[in-house]
Amino acid sequence: MKKPETIGIVGGTGRMGQWFKAFFEKKGYNVLISSRRTSLTAQDLARQADVVIVSVPISVTIDTIKEIGPYVRKEALLMDFTSLKQKPVEAMLEYSKAEVIGAHPLFGPGVNGLKGQVIVLCPARGEEWLPWVKDIFAEAHLEMTTPEEHDTIMAIVQALTHFLFITFGATAADLSLLPETLLRYSTPNFRALWERITNLTTQNPEIYASIQFDNPFYQEKVLPMFLKHLENLKQIILNRDAEAFMEMFKKIESCCKI
Ligand SMILES: NC(=O)c1ccc[n+]([C@@H]2O[C@H](COP(=O)([O-])OP(=O)(O)OC[C@H]3O[C@@H](n4cnc5c(N)ncnc54)[C@H](OP(=O)(O)O)[C@@H]3O)[C@@H](O)[C@H]2O)c1
Repeated sequence: MKKPETIGIVGGTGRMGQWFKAFFEKKGYNVLISSRRTSLTAQDLARQADVVIVSVPISVTIDTIKEIGPYVRKEALLMDFTSLKQKPVEAMLEYSKAEVIGAHPLFGPGVNGLKGQVIVLCPARGEEWLPWVKDIFAEAHLEMTTPEEHDTIMAIVQALTHFLFITFGATAADLSLLPETLLRYSTPNFRALWERITNLTTQNPEIYASIQFDNPFYQEKVLPMFLKHLENLKQIILNRDAEAFMEMFKKIESCCKI
């Protein structure tokens, strides 16, 4: 199995970058990091590392890949951790000659290890590095798919879920009810939802904005469909249409069965 001598993380001073730096170092690898604050430039890192990982904000991912891609060696592996996969993988293929695997860790830097976590892999060019990637992330559950399918699924799993949390939180804020009051009267369902919304507000809004702004499938299909259902449910409620309400429940029930 091909193994790297050196792993380089562009954006290695960031939250995910620091998490994976510690992860790889614990496994005994030499890890280089670069950012706008390091003396090592991203281009020098790209020249030196056998595995180059791009872990910068989504908004600068494509420009970063354009900048470093030509310096990643042909026999090296170029990866990214971006929360969207289609455009970064296309850019890695276009601007480098290296082997390419898009990756999306479906967790944040608060987790203690890979056990119980999911990582999505989108192998896009070459096959030599995949065994090492599978081996190093073996503690996680790995899902292999295409960048297109990844972004289609994330339109629901991430974008629509965050949309719900954001609009729910904004509605509660407009009603000017204190969180302490809401929590005093809370049901288990409300407490679980409120915890998620509170957690969202402690995160970097930039990632959440990109997940809403940069996924074409979400914007063209999922969001319009969701808004249609909101309007439909509103009409059902205003018309006190019990039959249509039951129909909606039945439709959800049949969809939720695994
Ligand atoms: N956080 C999460 O929960 C999470 C989960 C899954 C995937 N991801 C993905 O992981 C990637 C990194 O996220 P993060 O949360 O670690 O972000 P972050 O904490 O903001 O770190 C970003 C890193 O990129 C560098 N950077 C920022 N602007 C740059 C620029 N213009 N040019 C070059 N480097 C720049 C930063 O350092 P300097 O400011 O010093 O340049 C820093 O090292 C994103 O693509 C995100 O979608 C994040």
